[in-house]
Amino acid sequence: MTLYRAQVVDTPDDPFRGGALRCDGDAGLLVEDGRIVERDAFATLRSRHPEAQLVELSDGVLLPGLVDAHVHFPQVRVIGALGMPLLEWLERCALPEEARIAEIDYARVVAGEFVSALTSAGTTTALVFGSHFAPAVDALFQAAAGHGLRITSGLVVGDRMLRPELHTSAERSYDEGRELARRWHGVGRSRYAVTPRFALSCSDELLASCGELHRDVVGSWFTSHLNENLDEVATVRRLSGTTNYLDCYDRHGLVGRQSVFAHNVHSTDTELTRLAEAQASVAHCPTSNAALGSGMFPLNRHLAHGVLVALGCDVGAGTGFSLLKEGLQTYLLQRLRGVDGVPLTAAHLLYLATAAGGQALGLRDQIGDLSVGRRFDAIWIRPRPGTILDIGIRHSNGPEDALAKVFALATPDDLGQVWIDGAPLRARAVDA
Ligand code: GUN
Ligand code: FE
Repeated sequence: MTLYRAQVVDTPDDPFRGGALRCDGDAGLLVEDGRIVERDAFATLRSRHPEAQLVELSDGVLLPGLVDAHVHFPQVRVIGALGMPLLEWLERCALPEEARIAEIDYARVVAGEFVSALTSAGTTTALVFGSHFAPAVDALFQAAAGHGLRITSGLVVGDRMLRPELHTSAERSYDEGRELARRWHGVGRSRYAVTPRFALSCSDELLASCGELHRDVVGSWFTSHLNENLDEVATVRRLSGTTNYLDCYDRHGLVGRQSVFAHNVHSTDTELTRLAEAQASVAHCPTSNAALGSGMFPLNRHLAHGVLVALGCDVGAGTGFSLLKEGLQTYLLQRLRGVDGVPLTAAHLLYLATAAGGQALGLRDQIGDLSVGRRFDAIWIRPRPGTILDIGIRHSNGPEDALAKVFALATPDDLGQVWIDGAPLRARAVDA
């Protein structure tokens, strides 16, 4: 048994529904077999368990592990492109790199870089767009298992309007997905997600085979892109003959509680109503939306319809792996939306980066906050002495203010440690 002593900040209750930030200045968390079994004032817990091994984290802040609801594995090396909208960026940056990952040795190297970068940024659980190539997806699951990352991922599929080497067929998509799911779904912390790239690049027949796979792999997740960019939306409408983009997935049984749609910037009310009714989730990716000029996410309309929103970094269109940065960008964007913006506090940002992702991934009983019964997935923000973050936290006006400073200023360098299931991850160099 291990007893952690820390200033613990988390969001067990949804701040969008009136929940408050929970801050315990000198808390004790007792962890056994990776699970939090007791939580109390440190002194109380210490006297109850004098034998427990003590881990002293009193300087800094302990937060739940971050949950990324949308990120692309094969795009690690194309982060940072400027000046292109979605379809041009795909053609010129993302897809050529995604074709390179067919080479398995290259895929293994990139998978290592990807998983290291995620965990170094404090992400302990992620829903990941895999690769168009099954061996590369296998390499990703292997790398994630090696690092202990909680991952839900799958084979990315498309059969039109990509480059030919990325195209598959309905039958091959099903067979390869089924085999990957057999190898990885429910194995350790890995789960399988059926992952058509987006309706633009998938025929109705291919999406039908995705529906079949999603049904046949019991407990599988579903993820894709939705309503990201106006040219994309217009093309999908033309190809599908409907104004309802979501329906391209819905007609094949792909919209449900276990579905996560990235972006949804340009959504109709009909689609939002259906997402809410199906209890599907949306992954908001604010740095990506800004970098590609995709648009200003209507958080107000999602909340008004009751759609669950989580956060994704959307690397490589997004500008890095930090969900703290995505939280800050969510805040800034809502400010820029003026009267249509949702006023956000640090509690909202933390909720979006932790519990909301846990909810979107159906893992809320295990992760998302640091309550008794949850797995000990946690990050210790421990600013380097003398940095502006360090000074800011020490002079902050209470824990919520300190948390706002974390979102404004913290980088992966400020992470003292990351744990998944109670196991500390040694900080690894990106090229390890
Ligand atoms: N839509 C289809 N593929 C992609 C992708 O790789 N990134 C983003 N941002 N949108 C997409
Ligand atoms: Fe994406």
